[in-house]
Order: sequence, then structure tokens, then C-alpha cells
Amino acid sequence: MAIQYSFPEGFLWGSGSSAFQVEGECRNHDFYDWALQGNIKDGTNPVDAVHFWKYFKKDIGLMKKMNHSTARIGLEWARIEPDKWAYDDSVLDHYREILKEMKAQDISPMVTLHHFSNPMWLARQGGWTSLKVVKYYVRFVKKAVRYLGDLVDVWITINEPSVYATAAYLFGEFPPGKKSVGKTFRVMKNMADAHVAAYHEIHEIYTQKLWGTPKVGIAKHLRTFDPYNTKNPLDHLSARLAKRYFNDYFLKRVNKKSNTLDIFGLNYYSGDLVKFPLKLLGRKNLPKNKLGWDIYPKGLYRILDEYYFRYGCPVYITENGTCDEHDELRPSFILDHVYQLHRAMEHGVDIAGYYHWSTLDNFELVDGLMSRFGLVYVDHEHPERKRTLKTSGKMYGDIVGSNGITEKIVKDYVPEWRP
Ligand code: BGC
Repeated sequence: MAIQYSFPEGFLWGSGSSAFQVEGECRNHDFYDWALQGNIKDGTNPVDAVHFWKYFKKDIGLMKKMNHSTARIGLEWARIEPDKWAYDDSVLDHYREILKEMKAQDISPMVTLHHFSNPMWLARQGGWTSLKVVKYYVRFVKKAVRYLGDLVDVWITINEPSVYATAAYLFGEFPPGKKSVGKTFRVMKNMADAHVAAYHEIHEIYTQKLWGTPKVGIAKHLRTFDPYNTKNPLDHLSARLAKRYFNDYFLKRVNKKSNTLDIFGLNYYSGDLVKFPLKLLGRKNLPKNKLGWDIYPKGLYRILDEYYFRYGCPVYITENGTCDEHDELRPSFILDHVYQLHRAMEHGVDIAGYYHWSTLDNFELVDGLMSRFGLVYVDHEHPERKRTLKTSGKMYGDIVGSNGITEKIVKDYVPEWRP
């Protein structure tokens, strides 16, 4: 039978990025400082990343070339509020230019308000552990949403709260590099409170401005956690604990207060086997990406099946992608994951859109510029950071153009691929 996995009309296809991972030329946030202190594995700094700030027209042109109907971008709080209370309207005007260009190209913007980086003034005051951070964050959100809301279709308040809290305050890998269980939980609590408060403010602003009803959610990284040894009850217990901490704690906190998710943003990358007490391991039989992560598409189906039926709001896959230096794994990675999406939809999961991570090779957090996630190759040595569409980018564009996987796409790009 011919291969054909079609998506419903109006399904949104796009790709994503965050502010500090692509904008370049910002020296005012804590990841810049973190890089200066020598914490990035390949020695690079986000100040040199890609320069989307300057070349956004080119990049939106590339999104168009890949037939995107939507794209996810981020706002850099440190640019918008470089000093406490002092907003820079020229920065907000620049974001308006970016959003207008997206609209002009019929690319519907999803905008993230917080994606890992923080202004230095906030970092100096204790960042997300500060008692005042919710107040500061909400003030920034109000400013940004009032300025830009007429051009934005979906707001993501906070990206990956559990990853952020864990990396910054448990593993010490993100700034400020602290290791404190108490602080880790305090950060998650503050982020949950910040989300809930921002959710209500955004709705209020849209009502006042007669902008209709906004869609507001978070981008939540979810993984599968399974026992390493299925016969060992302690491994079962460890897997349950890891899941409760990483997947569920934040969502439960948010939901305890009120229903503040119009959409469920899901970032899916991989899954772990858990060995007692809390050792995370890969599956021996699965292929790995350049960072050693298992490529586990079935996990996406499992997560959708569990969390959609638990929360019931439309799902946006806000991130899904892989680190792949030479674009060898990415084409089949995309086919495998899009196929699992299709399966989940057939099973009744309401999925509104898919954002591949990432549009461009960008600044991959502590791994730096040399770890490539993009559909578009970026020559980081080139004075203008020359961009070239990868084979996976072309293939993704064809999937988007055909609104699904077709026999021809498989034949053209990965003839050996089977669902
Ligand atoms: C983050 C991105 C990151 C990606 C790949 C996600 O956890 O939201 O910022 O680049 O994973 O590591």
C-alpha cells in the first residue's frame, strides 16, 4: 500500500527558536555572562549566535521557503528591560518589525516570553529564586503583550520550567550554577505562580484592547521514564519518582490554582530508563544522536496518549528535533516523529500544530554553537553567518507543502524509511 499520512486541513506546521539562541549581539543576559565564565563546552558565546536580530528577513524568507504556516520565536527580556524598570521601546519596535514580517509572509507567530535567559539585573537579585521575581516577570509580560499582542497568535509564558530549574539549580549547568534542592523547588513554584499570573494578565489585556481571545500556554518538556530492570521494584519506584518530579510536579502546581492552559505546549526529545536510585540510562537497542540521546519516536505517542487525555486541551508540539552534525539522522527523525503524531491523532489526540526544533543551527545551550539542531545550516565562521537549507529542511518543506507524509517524499529523501 502506498505510504500516505495526511493531516487535517489547517494543521499548523512550522519550526522554532528562542531569543538568546539565535538573536546574537546581546550582552545583558546571564547566559552571555555564563559563557564568559567559560561554562560552554565548545567555548562559544551566544553573542555570536546566528544574528537573527539582524537577518530576520532572510530567516523568515527561509521559513516561507519551507512552506511554514507558523513559527515560534522568543522575546529577550534583557533587551526589553535592560535595567530594572527601564524599558527600551526601540527593542519592542524591532520585535514588531519581525512579527509584521512574519504576518506579511502568512506565518502565524507563536511567541515565548521566557526561555532560559534572564536580564543581569534580575540575576543579581537572585533570579527565579527571588521573592519578587513573579512581580518583575508579570510587569515585563504586561509591557510586552500590550506592545505586541495585536500581532501574536499564541503566547508561551515559560519554556521548560523543570529543565530550567533542574539545570540551573540542581545540576548547576545553567547560570547561576547553584546546586540546591530547596532552590530548585522554589524556582518551579515561582515559575508556576508566574505562569498563572501572566495567563490572567494576558487575557485581561486582550479583553481591554478588544483583540479577541488569546491562546496562552507553557512549553513543557515531557519524557518517558521506564524502569531499567522491569523485574526490579526499586527501578520501578525510581522511574515513578523521576516522572513525578520532571513531568508532573510543575503541571500539578499550575493546575492546582486554576485552569490556565488554553493550549498544551509539548517539547518532546527522548525518554530514559531509570536505575535505582536515580540513574538515567539509554536503551541499548536505539540509535543515538550526536549528544548521545536515544531517538525514541514511540515515546512521543506515549506522552501524547497520556497527557492529552489527562489535560484535554489542544496540543501544540512546541519542540521536537535532534542534534545531528551532518544532517544524516534528521530526515528519518522527522518522518518517524510526524508518523507518531499522525498515529496519536488517529487515536483521538487533538494536535493543532508541530514546530520542529530548530529553524536554524543555533546556540545549543551549554553545548554551544557547534551542536546543530537546525533545518537550516549556518556557517558560524562566515561574516554574515551564511544560511543554507539542509536536505532535512527541504524534506520538511515538502511535508508541510503536502500536509503530511507522501510516498514521493519518502522516495525522494529516505527511500528505505518504513513506519
Ligand atoms: C530547549 C531548547 C534546546 C533544545 C535542545 C529544549 O530543552 O527548550 O532551548 O535548544 O531543548 O536541547
